[in-house]
Amino acid sequence: MRILVTGAAGFIGSNYVRRLLGPVPGAARPRRVTVLDKLTYAGNRANLAPVQDDPAFSFVRGDVTDAALVHDLVAAHDAVVHFAAESHVDRSIQASQEFVVSNVLGTQTLLDAALHRGARPFVHVSTDEVYGSVRSGACAEDAALRPSSPYSASKAAADLLALSYHRTHGMDVRILRSCNGYGPTSTRRNWSPWRSPGCSTGAGCRCTGTAGMCGSGCTWTICATPCTGCSWPAAPGASTTSAARR
Ligand SMILES: NC(=O)c1ccc[n+]([C@@H]2O[C@H](COP(=O)([O-])OP(=O)(O)OC[C@H]3O[C@@H](n4cnc5c(N)ncnc54)[C@H](O)[C@@H]3O)[C@@H](O)[C@H]2O)c1
Repeated sequence: MRILVTGAAGFIGSNYVRRLLGPVPGAARPRRVTVLDKLTYAGNRANLAPVQDDPAFSFVRGDVTDAALVHDLVAAHDAVVHFAAESHVDRSIQASQEFVVSNVLGTQTLLDAALHRGARPFVHVSTDEVYGSVRSGACAEDAALRPSSPYSASKAAADLLALSYHRTHGMDVRILRSCNGYGPTSTRRNWSPWRSPGCSTGAGCRCTGTAGMCGSGCTWTICATPCTGCSWPAAPGASTTSAARR
């Protein structure tokens, strides 16, 4: 299996690639893992240092909206795992255009390349924030999408595009809507959970009223959750949603 992983110089993608190429008992080792990342302020190549010398690993600096580059890369891979995104909610409130370009146009560019180059499955890493806030309980997977920030609106738009490729073209598309994570390589914008009792147990924790990010409260889990959620091979299906609670 040759896997193109976008945005893996960032927090979650780098954990995923390190896991993919690390010693995971029973997991099939991919023949090739190529990371496509623009290295924005959020990307850091040092996050990938542990796999840098692995013969199966390569890194391409580039933009997911660059159609020519994306088509060439997708053509050389069997599957796509798409993490790349502008991901900082507060930044999206200050200026949202970059979020629409990278998160919506970037996803469409990758979907189109995967469709025409035959890469399957296409895993879109989304967020539970597409559901907006709920005062208590959890959202069902098919709950209405009510994003409450330009960031989550752009992720919801990307989800709908991905699902439309499944409906229209029968493409094998899988969507992960995980809650907020923290762990190795997370940056200071994900700092709050470290301050919350229970986070260090790895069982998840609840933080309330984190400025600009959570209205009535949100659930955080350690990074292992989304990384395990898209361990290879992921379960088949059009939409795979992890716990959603906001
Ligand atoms: N961090 C969380 O708690 C969380 C929770 C749920 C979902 N997600 C989703 O998981 C994915 C990864 O999140 P993260 O926290 O690791 O993000 P991050 O901001 O740490 O990393 C994003 C990466 O994408 C790259 N990137 C941004 N725009 C790009 C572009 N146009 N072309 C190529 N690369 C680009 C950046 O350089 C960076 O390396 C995102 O899609 C995010 O929406 C994150």
